Amino acid sequence: MESRPNLVIEPTWQKLNHFYKEFGSKINIMDLFAQDPKRFEKFSTTIETPLDGPILIDYSKNRINDEVLKLLFQLARDRGVESARDAMFSASKINFTENRSVLHIALRNRKNRPIIVDGKDVMPEVNAVLDHMKSFCDLIISKKWKGYSGKPIEDVVNIGIGGSDLGPLMVTEALKSFAVGPRVHFVSNIDGTHLAEVLKKVNPETTLFIIASKTFTTQETITNAVSAKTWLVAASGDASAVAKHFVALSTNAEKVREFGIDTNNMFGFWDWVGGRYSLWSAIGLSIALNIGYDNFVKLLEGAHYVDEHFVNTPLEKNVPVILALIGIWYINFYNSETHALLPYDQYLHRFAAYFQQGDMESNGKYVTRNGDQVSYSTGPIVWGEPGTNGQHAFYQLIHQGTRLIPADFIAPACTHNPISGGKHHKILLANFLAQTEALAKGKSLEEAAAELKASGMPADQIDRILPHKVFQGNRPTNSIVCKMITPFTLGALIAIYEHKIFVQGVIWDINSFDQWGVELGKQLAKAIEKDLEGSNKISNHDQSTNGLVNFIKSCCIR
Ligand code: F6P
Repeated sequence: MESRPNLVIEPTWQKLNHFYKEFGSKINIMDLFAQDPKRFEKFSTTIETPLDGPILIDYSKNRINDEVLKLLFQLARDRGVESARDAMFSASKINFTENRSVLHIALRNRKNRPIIVDGKDVMPEVNAVLDHMKSFCDLIISKKWKGYSGKPIEDVVNIGIGGSDLGPLMVTEALKSFAVGPRVHFVSNIDGTHLAEVLKKVNPETTLFIIASKTFTTQETITNAVSAKTWLVAASGDASAVAKHFVALSTNAEKVREFGIDTNNMFGFWDWVGGRYSLWSAIGLSIALNIGYDNFVKLLEGAHYVDEHFVNTPLEKNVPVILALIGIWYINFYNSETHALLPYDQYLHRFAAYFQQGDMESNGKYVTRNGDQVSYSTGPIVWGEPGTNGQHAFYQLIHQGTRLIPADFIAPACTHNPISGGKHHKILLANFLAQTEALAKGKSLEEAAAELKASGMPADQIDRILPHKVFQGNRPTNSIVCKMITPFTLGALIAIYEHKIFVQGVIWDINSFDQWGVELGKQLAKAIEKDLEGSNKISNHDQSTNGLVNFIKSCCIR
């Protein structure tokens, strides 16, 4: 993948900029609907899944028209999105700062097409790990695997952080209604409270610890893993109990061995799996144990289905490309700084948190592939909470605040929990639909005035209150609706966002696959950890850090 010319001098970019300057503030979503009765058909598309119904992507409530989209698709072509995509799928080492291919797509390559890295097809190894996961899941779920006292496993504790935590956590929450295996718990934070609270809930005789770490050197994970091991050995009174209660998910067999886990109980993966793209790999073991291996495969199938869509669909109908380009339009021309992910599904309550890492660790970069500082914005701040909770918290700012906040609304048409006698899901969906309508439509001065008048309010009061009751509207949203959240549709949804992030990274000409930005803090923490020892005052940092360290020492060091 070659570095591209500076984005801002691309002729298509300049045309977009010109168009934005001329019309950007005049484009009104409701006017566009009024002008074109076929706008919804034109600016929506479906991905027809083979078993779990269609996924509808409605992008008609955006400040876009044919001309903008045409330029955006041209920009994608000019920036080499198609060749970059093909480079990723053909295992080129597009993560050039780490000299690695980027092949989460191989982990879900259900057609088993050969994928060659350094002259070797990776698929036999991918399939061998999947087979290992399958047989392990069978042993645990059938209760044939016994703990040190002869009892089967009832609880699984995944110890990992970042990509070795967020994906399995998000997916097991999202697919709770598919659970067939042991309960799953997640410990990520180095704060001992996280481990302590989980250990209060589980019984050492029936608990399996999964130590999930690509590198097997991550401080938080190894510290938590060592403490969990100490807890288990203390409870069992037998160091050999570790063999029955600890497995590792890692690329680093040597460190796994050093830790004391038999490498027969290790599920491997490879350096071409990025941490934030690793839920499809052995890192997904807690998912497979919880929802069953067959459902885990359906998750992979859903993602693979979208991979094929991404590779084979012309840009104009390509869902990840469309979402990426609309994002670029707001981030780079309207200067939107954030992007909200708003699932109307309680099971998806960790979806935004998952894509905070997925998006912000991927595209939070300020240098281009050839090392120049960019002169345009790159990855947005990603955030969100499930509806309707968000409506009662931060939607006020989306509706009437000063910032333009593009948002994706994600909703399943049908629920897994039709509460008898209740209208929960209908009300939930009505709220989702109402929010996107309200954001686009707003409420004019005239409408607000008429409403106040009809309520019987005196004219002088109306004058005072009226400006506060007006909604400018014209606030953009995408709506993504599937029939139900299933392993397949969830896999598809995740892959849509992964590829969206990829496309944006290509257009911005950044490396979306390294994460050097998290290293500096890790380095400094090691030095500060030493400074927190003892009771002496320290003075070797900046004034603020010295002051904070010394205050902490004065409070707690005994
Ligand atoms: O801190 C960033 C990071 O490297 C993430 O990219 C990764 O997902 C996480 O740490 C955990 O790393 P590991 O799986 O090696 O423990």
